[in-house]
Amino acid sequence: MRIMKRITRLAIVRIRHFDYLSLLAATALAGCANSGVIPAVHPVAPLATIPNANSWPAVKSPLGLDPAQEARIGAIIARMSLEEKVGQIIQPDIASITPDEVRRYKFGSILAGGNSSPGGKENAAPIEWLKLADAYWNASRAADWSGEPIPLMWGIDAVHGHANIVGATIFPQNIGLGATRNPELIRRIGEVTAREMVVTGFDWDFSPTLAVVRDDRWGRAYEGFSEDPGIVRSYAGEMVEGLQGRAHGADFMGAGRVIATAKHFVGDGGTAQGKDQGDNPSSFEQIRDIHGAGYPPAIAAGVQAIMASFSSVRGIKVHGDRALLTTALKEDMGFDGLVVGDWNAHGQVPGCNNTSCPESINAGLDMFMAPDTWKGLYDNTLAQARSGQIAQTRLDDAVRRILRVKMRAGLFEKGAPSTRPLAGNLALLGAPQHRAVAHQAVRESLVLLKNQRQLLPLDPRANIMVAGDGANNIGRQSGGWTISWQGSGFANSDFPGATTIYAGIRKSVEAAGGKSTLSVDGSYSKKPDVAIVVFGEEPYAEFVGDRATLEYSPGDKKDLDLLRRLKAAGVPTVAVFLSGRPMWVNPEINASDAFVAAFLPGSEGGAIADVILRDAQGAVRNDFRGKLSFSWPRRGDQTSLNFGELPYDPLFPMGYGLSFGDQTDLPQLAEDRPPPVAGGADGLYFARGATPAGWQWQFDGGRIVALDRRAQEDARRFTWPGTKVARASIVAENPIDISREATGELSLLVDYRVDAKPTAATSLIIGSVALPIGGVLRSAKIGEWQTLTLPLRCFVRAGLDPAKVSVPAAVETSGRLTLSISDVRIASAIVDQNACGKP
Ligand code: BGC
Ligand code: BGC
Repeated sequence: MRIMKRITRLAIVRIRHFDYLSLLAATALAGCANSGVIPAVHPVAPLATIPNANSWPAVKSPLGLDPAQEARIGAIIARMSLEEKVGQIIQPDIASITPDEVRRYKFGSILAGGNSSPGGKENAAPIEWLKLADAYWNASRAADWSGEPIPLMWGIDAVHGHANIVGATIFPQNIGLGATRNPELIRRIGEVTAREMVVTGFDWDFSPTLAVVRDDRWGRAYEGFSEDPGIVRSYAGEMVEGLQGRAHGADFMGAGRVIATAKHFVGDGGTAQGKDQGDNPSSFEQIRDIHGAGYPPAIAAGVQAIMASFSSVRGIKVHGDRALLTTALKEDMGFDGLVVGDWNAHGQVPGCNNTSCPESINAGLDMFMAPDTWKGLYDNTLAQARSGQIAQTRLDDAVRRILRVKMRAGLFEKGAPSTRPLAGNLALLGAPQHRAVAHQAVRESLVLLKNQRQLLPLDPRANIMVAGDGANNIGRQSGGWTISWQGSGFANSDFPGATTIYAGIRKSVEAAGGKSTLSVDGSYSKKPDVAIVVFGEEPYAEFVGDRATLEYSPGDKKDLDLLRRLKAAGVPTVAVFLSGRPMWVNPEINASDAFVAAFLPGSEGGAIADVILRDAQGAVRNDFRGKLSFSWPRRGDQTSLNFGELPYDPLFPMGYGLSFGDQTDLPQLAEDRPPPVAGGADGLYFARGATPAGWQWQFDGGRIVALDRRAQEDARRFTWPGTKVARASIVAENPIDISREATGELSLLVDYRVDAKPTAATSLIIGSVALPIGGVLRSAKIGEWQTLTLPLRCFVRAGLDPAKVSVPAAVETSGRLTLSISDVRIASAIVDQNACGKP
């Protein structure tokens, strides 16, 4: 009953906001309170007709095929050698290819991955990027082309501004932009991003991400605008047009424009348990109408590239899925641009590896992203094109699409990157007019969740303490994909021109004649009138950000302690929470008087002061405008809480966001912690280079080194010296219970590669039970990755107590052995009934 009352109250508050989405949410909630039924969520008119139940909307590129252009492309293709065609469809990364190799192989495109930069220097000067762009472009130009030279196309992830480059304007991550509900602003952000990219010589942006995020444990939740397909749909075309210009407009692909990429097609935001690169089990209709919602408007706006997703849909890797890459995209939706792969993602298609995957091209991929694997992939793809394993017509179609995009982008005429309009105009990077757009984006993205007794806006003439380790930290307020892939480990000095949240507060307070002090740990000698505590998640990107729980910082409660200390001392406190997703923060909310969800605002942290502080005369400067584009959980187990799905019992529904006039005081929230997630609860003991929190690899007497298999440092190589018995083990902090798994016919799976065969008996161990694997390792092919599968029942039969396991997996031998391991997991697998190891 109390819950119902609260829901109704929230609903009323929201209606007062007169915000369309809030109204919808409110209606839904009222409906839910009265009848248990949530009405249809997104009455957005469909963009195009859906011809039949099994097809995607019929869209069509607004550009259409230009007969003269197509004829010119045909003439170029007719003179291309097979080698040149294969070169067009492979995209190496600058960290793994030299300009001279680009010249020799005549590649059509290169990329700069999140960790790649000129000379390997992450904070290289902007001008170095432009010089490098010219170096590659000139090399490609100098190649010995059979016919007309084909210009090179350079791509990068400018996913929240051109944030890889020092000094660029860094916009809020997409989750914050979702809260602005301002499509026009999205367009301007695209324009600014494109201009800054052109300054440093880029042609192509791997943005926008159109993921519709349905499980907030996903490490890329912040890259998505919303859990709501309607919001994603309303932004997709705007960002595309901001980057590329308006199709048919005079500015289309003109000065200061770049090629956009809608990604990751499709279903990336809906993988089970929010596992990055995982499997999306949704039905066809859900994939099309929820996860695919952004693609029709992106195509209708003329997006020239679409990136295939790492993930699978109903068990099929998208990189090998013809029904998605060809039928849905190219046939149903009429997409006539190019489909680019993701980072070695083709290697995950069954039957493929990083250096061989005709399946992907045959399924409809037009360009492999083969950062460090281009050489082997080039040789194999060439052989497959010769043998007919890749049909000539398919190869020609891929090349045609790539050349079409290049022609539409004007690359055949544009000349060397440094000679183009705006190139080298370094003053444009982080220019005041660009930062102003980011500043507005930050102001509009802030969502006010709690404002007890209308504490906000604050009087800047007060004595204000600013605390928390996010207060003066540009890296923290920017998140992943900032200067580097993970965005961690940078100093404020790496962000010239950027403003920390504290610096913005100080400026406003000083201007008003007040006093502000930065005290990260919250200590003070003279009690402040009010405290602003800025805290939140550390930066992360992709799978590194996958979490098992939405509880904020389960292992370290220092921020909560700080808030509670201030509360106990009677200091009114404003919490500013930096995060890439909604999180369970009930205790932190209880311990604060006002709570602001600031997401990951980027370089213009100063904009926060412009909202939470009054001006020197005491007048409100900017009210809160942000509305949640994600539902905020009431409990830690609400990991995939989405508006439009039942049961819907959020703490704050999608669309929620207070403004100063609201007199809603939030009651005390329940603080029961979500059930702890056991280490390895998801069955993953070692994956993507990491063990579960609190677990670790131990190897007394042997040597472990990090190794790259599918991604950077995602594997380990173990060397046994052969001088004594040595054991490489994964050790769990607290014993785990795998009885359910053991009775469920599951197995321990180890993905391994033998680099040097064992010279003595070797065993695989769980707990204290060892099963022989020497025979398996000795017959394994050296240097080849494979999977070892041992049913858990074998261990139980040999005496394992599955209820209390502190060593979930170990390998032991007294001999010499070099073994690489990339994955250790519990899963179901088909196994020979008699297979309990081989001595
Ligand atoms: C990511 C993509 C990105 C690409 C290039 C991949 O790992 O999934 O979003 O565009 O790398 O950096
Ligand atoms: C790249 C990213 C890529 C990741 C995947 C990084 O080095 O910069 O773009 O997504 O590796 O392994």
